[in-house]
Amino acid sequence: MANTLPIDPQTDPALPGHPNPYPVYHQLRALKPVYWSPAMNGWVLLRYSDAVSYLNDCRFSRQAYLRTLRQRYGDSPILESQRREVVFTDPPQHKRLRRLADRASQLQNSTPFRPVIERLVTEKLKRVLAKGQMDLIADLAEPLPPEVLALWLGVPIEKVPVLKDWVLAIQRGRGIVRSPETTAEASRAVQDLEAYFSELIAERRKSPRNDVITSLIQAEDRGDRLTEQELLMFSWGLFSAGHTSVQYLIGNALLALLRHPEQMEQLRGDRSLIPYAIEEALRYDPPTQALNPQVALEDVIIGNDTIKRGEAVSVLIGAVNRDPERFPDPDRFDITRTDHHHLSFGTGEHYCMGAPLARLQAQITLAMVLQRLPNLRLATDRLEWQKLGRFRGLVALPVTFDSVTSTQN
Ligand code: HEM
Repeated sequence: MANTLPIDPQTDPALPGHPNPYPVYHQLRALKPVYWSPAMNGWVLLRYSDAVSYLNDCRFSRQAYLRTLRQRYGDSPILESQRREVVFTDPPQHKRLRRLADRASQLQNSTPFRPVIERLVTEKLKRVLAKGQMDLIADLAEPLPPEVLALWLGVPIEKVPVLKDWVLAIQRGRGIVRSPETTAEASRAVQDLEAYFSELIAERRKSPRNDVITSLIQAEDRGDRLTEQELLMFSWGLFSAGHTSVQYLIGNALLALLRHPEQMEQLRGDRSLIPYAIEEALRYDPPTQALNPQVALEDVIIGNDTIKRGEAVSVLIGAVNRDPERFPDPDRFDITRTDHHHLSFGTGEHYCMGAPLARLQAQITLAMVLQRLPNLRLATDRLEWQKLGRFRGLVALPVTFDSVTSTQN
């Protein structure tokens, strides 16, 4: 491919687990803002303006991308389930699914969930307060989101460990690069998840509750309702989409603040900046580094390059969020920034359905960490990043703080 840059495979920014991909993104954007990534077997966009016009261009298709995966890897239950997923549907089916989801009131309004999240965070912090040290990932950011999602959807909390295992197997098996082993493991996991949620949906049909699954069952748009398959897809799809992404957001946001102690202090002094700090963390170090690819249905020109019909394109969110043409001084972490038009939740038709719930969890967690853990500081500078698909999150985030006796909290 003529447009391929001589990038060492170890530094291809599309590869997961890179300790600091941002300088590489800058170099690439300057050299070749529409870049052919051998690791992704497709084009990646690194400029904000290209990304926004591409994401609003109906000449690209998500279903067509899945067809290229089928040609490469053959059919499998995991690929079959992806074909039904909201994030891989094209119009008009996609519009229909989003309209019905808009009618599910529990799904749309996460604010009443605030006390539940506060209770879960309090429980987790109580366990470590006296110790004066903790791993912010293992003790807080990792267990929190699946428990929140379980209670929100209406899944019994004791099912969380097994559901988490299935979701992680799916994430390992649906990357841009697939092996027969991870595909088989993910295919088994999707069948187990569907069997589990199928029983839960049947129960909720008999005895409705005040939860998201019931709300999806009842959602109606001018006589139209979600089919059984669509209910299944939404139930486990929401659990899966909102799980590691929120964990990584909490970890990445806390790391950015720990590395900028003056801004941590500013935040302690002015809690009204908490939503700004979370938006800035989303821009600065996004949990999802690349969007799901789409395939061109005809030749399309982006910048100086022609994307040929049948070729895949993705957006490197981490790169577009630091495009100096869009965000002045993009490498500066600044919680007082007021331009929050980052692409960390995507944009356009496929904008993230869980953004309000993700923001709520991250804001509550940050507020409670600041309030309960005095003199919080990093316990090490040697940090390891997950090597999982398109995501960016820490394996562990060890910290120390002034220990607090339980009577004080
Ligand atoms: C910080 C946390 C999160 C991040 C960074 C994130 C990021 C994203 C992004 C970038 C997209 C667009 C994908 C694309 O266009 O290819 C997306 C879509 C989506 N997200 Fe999230 N997400 C987060 C949390 C959640 C949560 C908590 C849920 C569920 C409760 C959720 C459910 C979804 C769904 C269902 C879609 C597909 C929407 C559609 O295709 O119309 N996400 N998310």
